[in-house]
Amino acid sequence: MNIFESIFNRRSVRKYVMEPLEDSLLEKIRKMIDNVSVLDDSCRVEFEIYENLNKKSQVKGIFKADAPYYLIVYCDDNPRAYRNAGYAAEQLVLYMTTKEIGTCYLGSGKIGPKEKNGLKQFLIISFGRAEGTLYRDMEEAHRQPLASLCTYKDEPGEYLKKILKAARMSPSSLNSQPWRFIVYSDRVYVFMKKEAFPQPKLLLSMRNFDMGIMLCHIMIAAEEFWMNMETVTEEQYAKKKYKNGEYICTIIFNS
Ligand SMILES: Cc1cc2nc3c(=O)[nH]c(=O)nc-3n(C[C@H](O)[C@H](O)[C@H](O)COP(=O)(O)O)c2cc1C
Repeated sequence: MNIFESIFNRRSVRKYVMEPLEDSLLEKIRKMIDNVSVLDDSCRVEFEIYENLNKKSQVKGIFKADAPYYLIVYCDDNPRAYRNAGYAAEQLVLYMTTKEIGTCYLGSGKIGPKEKNGLKQFLIISFGRAEGTLYRDMEEAHRQPLASLCTYKDEPGEYLKKILKAARMSPSSLNSQPWRFIVYSDRVYVFMKKEAFPQPKLLLSMRNFDMGIMLCHIMIAAEEFWMNMETVTEEQYAKKKYKNGEYICTIIFNS
């Protein structure tokens, strides 16, 4: 399974075998951490692998999962930084999926050092060998249909359709799937859905992180189909207030 295929087969794993992973595998994950690509050069993100085989620490937070390892995500404290962190973290999560390692984002979970190089701990990702099934068929994933996520201004080409399918599969906090798209044949306007009521800061930060995960899926799918893509922020849309969503970026594709 390659990283693109893993987008469609990954599921969150909440039960783990409390056994160590091979050193060589942990070394590969560390290499991936060093080589992860970012969405925004101006934002900082750092990762730390926290081994908890002997359960020396308790995960703090609700909806937690006991796991032999946690990937701690540290980042700056602003929406762009959360999106950047989600984009980077998802590359690691998908990489681990290809290596048959189970993962689960734990949005309210905390473990280990609270700060790293001046960055605050944002969330943690449990990982290790899954107790039970690691993969699933994409039809089993609870995701909204593309028709509810997209407003089509043009009929998308075959590859753009596949890219949108990959975006749709993204995991999100509380499975909220906040992404919305306005689709033209060569570009996609990306919006983050607004809820009817103002969201608490933690939920909003998670939603931005979710958007980063989704942008990572778009990047991986575009690479799979050899599509060049450019992500830009168009000031005229960024400045505007929309009733149902917040403009995030425009993705321009050239095949
Ligand atoms: C930012 C983020 C935070 C999450 N936090 C939690 C959590 O605290 N506890 C949990 O069990 N799952 C958590 N999840 C997992 C989601 O519930 C899960 O991705 C979503 O329900 C879709 O299911 P799937 O990943 O199996 O496709 C989180 C996911 C994301 C992306």
